[in-house]
Amino acid sequence: MSLTRRDFLRFTATAGLALHLPAGRDEDSLVAPPYTRGTEVRRISASLGATSNPPALDPTKLAAFVDPLPLLPIARSNGFRASPDDSSRKVPFYQIEMREALSKVHRDLPPTRQWGFDGLVPGPTFEARSGNELLVEWVNRLPARHFLPIDQRLHGADRDKPEVRTVVHLHGGRTPPSSDGYPEDWYPSGNSATYFYPNRQDAATLWYHDHAMGINRLNIYAGLSGLFIIRDEIEDQLKLPHARYEVPLVIFDRMLDTRGQLLYPVSDDPQAPWLADFFGNVMMVNGRVTPFLEVEPRRYRFRILNGSNSRLYHLLLDNGMPMMQIGTDQGLLPSPLELRRLAIAPAERADLVADFAGHHGERIALKDDAVDVMQFRVSHARVVDDSHLPHLLRSVPRIPEASAVRTRTLTLNEYNDRTGKTILMLLNETYWHQPVTEKPRIDSTEIWNLVNLTDEVHPIHLHLVRFQVLDRRVFERFEYQRTGHLRYLGPVTPPEQNEMGWKDTVRAEPHAVTRIIVRFEGYKGRYVWHCHNLEHEDNEMMRPYEVIEPA
Ligand code: C2O
Ligand code: CU
Repeated sequence: MSLTRRDFLRFTATAGLALHLPAGRDEDSLVAPPYTRGTEVRRISASLGATSNPPALDPTKLAAFVDPLPLLPIARSNGFRASPDDSSRKVPFYQIEMREALSKVHRDLPPTRQWGFDGLVPGPTFEARSGNELLVEWVNRLPARHFLPIDQRLHGADRDKPEVRTVVHLHGGRTPPSSDGYPEDWYPSGNSATYFYPNRQDAATLWYHDHAMGINRLNIYAGLSGLFIIRDEIEDQLKLPHARYEVPLVIFDRMLDTRGQLLYPVSDDPQAPWLADFFGNVMMVNGRVTPFLEVEPRRYRFRILNGSNSRLYHLLLDNGMPMMQIGTDQGLLPSPLELRRLAIAPAERADLVADFAGHHGERIALKDDAVDVMQFRVSHARVVDDSHLPHLLRSVPRIPEASAVRTRTLTLNEYNDRTGKTILMLLNETYWHQPVTEKPRIDSTEIWNLVNLTDEVHPIHLHLVRFQVLDRRVFERFEYQRTGHLRYLGPVTPPEQNEMGWKDTVRAEPHAVTRIIVRFEGYKGRYVWHCHNLEHEDNEMMRPYEVIEPA
C-alpha cells in the first residue's frame, strides 16, 4: 500500500489532526504507513556499497581483546561557587571543555579524530551524592566546521545555523528547565553555559550528552557523552562491590574507515543524507574496540550504559554464567535478578553484578549475541571477597493506576517515500515546531499509552521524570490507522522483571501499546520527550512537553 498525498491527508484527517508538512520536503512523495520494516532499514544503512560512502574497515581484520579496557577518569571540580538556590551555600563548580582530540581506539589503528568532553570519549565521570548540588560550565571549544555529514533538511539543522552547535543534557537528571539542555538552547563554538544540578534524586547511573537540535546524532557519535553517577546512603549500606570492583562500561557501536576514522554512513542522495538508523560493525567499550579487563575471581559491579545511536544489544557471557541485575535506569531494583541475556536499548542502563569466583584462569567474552563486545580475564589470585549482594536492595513501591488523573494516547509514526525509504519519524503525528500538546500538572500522575505503529522498537525517553512500566499489549494496527479503534490481538504482557525498577527510557515494542505511569515532580517548565534512537530523534521524533501549575 503506497498512498498519495491526498490519501495521506485523509488518513491524518481520520486521526483528527491537520499535518503541516515542513517546507522543503517533497510533499507529493510523502507516503503514509505501512512502514519500512526494521530489517530493510538495517540493510539500507549497512549497504556501504553506495557510492557516497568511503570504504569501511573490515572489523574481522582487527584483532579482538588486545587493548586493556580504559577506566574512566573522574571529573575534578575547579573550586566552589554560590548555589543558585541559596547564595550563602557554596557548591562544587566544574568546567568541562568540549574539544576535538585524537585518541587510539585500537592497538593497530592510527589515532581517531573524535569530539570529547575534556577531549575524552567517553567524557570524565561525575561522582555526585544525592542532594548535593553542583554547577558545571559546559564550554564549547570545538572547531567551527563539523566533520560528520549534516542533513540540512532536518529540523533545526538548516543552512543558516552554525555547523557546530552543542547543548548538554543530563539524561535521567531531575534538573530545572533552564539547566536541562533544551535542544534549541544550543550555542556555537567559543561559547559556554553554566548548568545547575541539584541532584535531589535517588542513587542512579545517569549520563550526560549533547542534545543540539538536528545534529544530536552526529555530536554523540563524534563522542560527546559521559557518565554521571549519583550515590546515596541507602545504596552505601548494601556494601555492593565498590572502588576497583565497580566498573562502568559504556558500550556503543561505530563504523570506521580504512584509516581508522569515524565513518557515518549517508544515503545516495546528497540533498538528503539522513538514514533512518545507524548500525556500526565495530563494538567499543569505554572508547576502545573490543577491549579486555583483568579481573579477580570475585564479585564485580558493572554499570552498563548503551550509548549507541540505534543498536539494541542482547548481552551475554559466553561461558553461560549468569549475571545478576541489581539496577536499571533510575537506580536499584527491589531485589537482584538472575539473567543469562540482557536486552538493553539505546540510553537504557543496567547495573549488574557478576561473580567470577570459581572461574580462575578463564577468559570470558561479553557478547552481543554472537558478536564480541569485550573480554574478562580472570586471574588466579586468591582473594577474600568482602562485598555483599543482599536479597533486598531497595523498595520500589508500585504507583497505583488509580492515582493517574489523565491518560494520554500517543502514537509513534514512521513515513516512507515511494521507494520505501524512511524519510520522517513523528510522535503522535506532530512535528517538533507545533504547539505543545502535553501539559501535565506538577505533582500529578498520568498514564501514557505509547501506540507503536511501526515495525521497530523505539526507546522512548522523558526528561525530568522517572516512571514505571505498566504493561504492553499487541494490537491490530491497520484497523487502528483506519478507524482509530484499538483492537488487541493478545493478552496484556506485564513488564519484564528487570523493568520493575524506576525507568526513564522504555522500549516501545512494535505493533504494541506500551503503557507507562509517570508522576511529574520536581520543576515546572518546558522539557522534551523523544525517541532515543538518535537518528529518529533528529528527524522529528521529539516533542516538547510542559509541566504546568497545579489545578
Ligand atoms: Cu538521553 Cu533527551 O536524552
Ligand atoms: Cu524511534
